[in-house]
Amino acid sequence: MKIATTIAEVRAQVAAWKKEGLRIGLVPTMGYLHEGHASLVDEAVRQCDRVVASVFVNPTQFSPNEDLDAYPRDFSRDCTLLESHGCHLVFHPEVEEMYLPGAATYVEILSEMPKQLCGKTRPIHFRGVCTVVSKLFNIVTPDKAFFGQKDAQQLAILRQMVRDLSYGIQLVGCPIVREEDGLAKSSRNTYLNAEERQAALVLSQAVFLGQKMVEEGERDTAKIVAAMTDHIAAQPLARIDYVSAVDGITMEPVSSIQGTVLVAMAVYIGKTRLIDNFIVEDV
Ligand code: PAJ
Repeated sequence: MKIATTIAEVRAQVAAWKKEGLRIGLVPTMGYLHEGHASLVDEAVRQCDRVVASVFVNPTQFSPNEDLDAYPRDFSRDCTLLESHGCHLVFHPEVEEMYLPGAATYVEILSEMPKQLCGKTRPIHFRGVCTVVSKLFNIVTPDKAFFGQKDAQQLAILRQMVRDLSYGIQLVGCPIVREEDGLAKSSRNTYLNAEERQAALVLSQAVFLGQKMVEEGERDTAKIVAAMTDHIAAQPLARIDYVSAVDGITMEPVSSIQGTVLVAMAVYIGKTRLIDNFIVEDV
């Protein structure tokens, strides 16, 4: 596995692969990798000839009051995991390589979509995500890019970006990977102490509760959201940011299960903000 720290190195390697007619897959990450990230690499290895993973904690998607400096980092462990899953190239740039002095161009979706759900409390987040992913697309020029359903709003927004900006790149969404007890794997789980780790189970429990209600025929999203909210609110260490049911493509709130519906939540456990969700495909 090769490690590149500059854009030029990535371009040279990708150009050589493309000359051989190889299909390139991209897995963008912020590092501190776990099996959730690894599942994206596995899928990319299945679908592509060469896999590029990026490890870059992107400052433009963090607000000043967020955890940019505290965000966990362990690049050598990340490399071990990536190599063991068959990744061919890791792109690990410094901030100065990605954002030149005076950089002033952003990619921003101007509909309501990035203002829903996580956008309510993280107003600049998706602008930063779209900007950095757009740059990664321009640098790596992959055939396919792999993203987790765990960040369902991010994936929906990136699909809109790819459509609006005519990126000829196929986005592949991959299922949420969970710990054995249900907690969705996240680099931020490392912030939780033992008591909080236990309390964090309310998120996945609420997901399973909501899924069960849908399976049993409930179609009223207000009732589903209320039951999930009650379950989470009963945990003293939990503080709800949102629990919402929205259209799976536009992220607009919906009142009944019809078409593709995303039921998503963000919950603070102590100081740590965690997210989880499930999708219902009503056919
Ligand atoms: P990061 O949080 O590191 O996540 C990288 C990718 O891994 C995302 O597509 C995310 O949805 C996926 N992922 C994380 N946890 C997962 C889990 N438990 N199961 C399945 N997939 C999971 O998302 C970002 O980084 C950044 O916003 C990024 C897209 C890299 C732009 O900076």
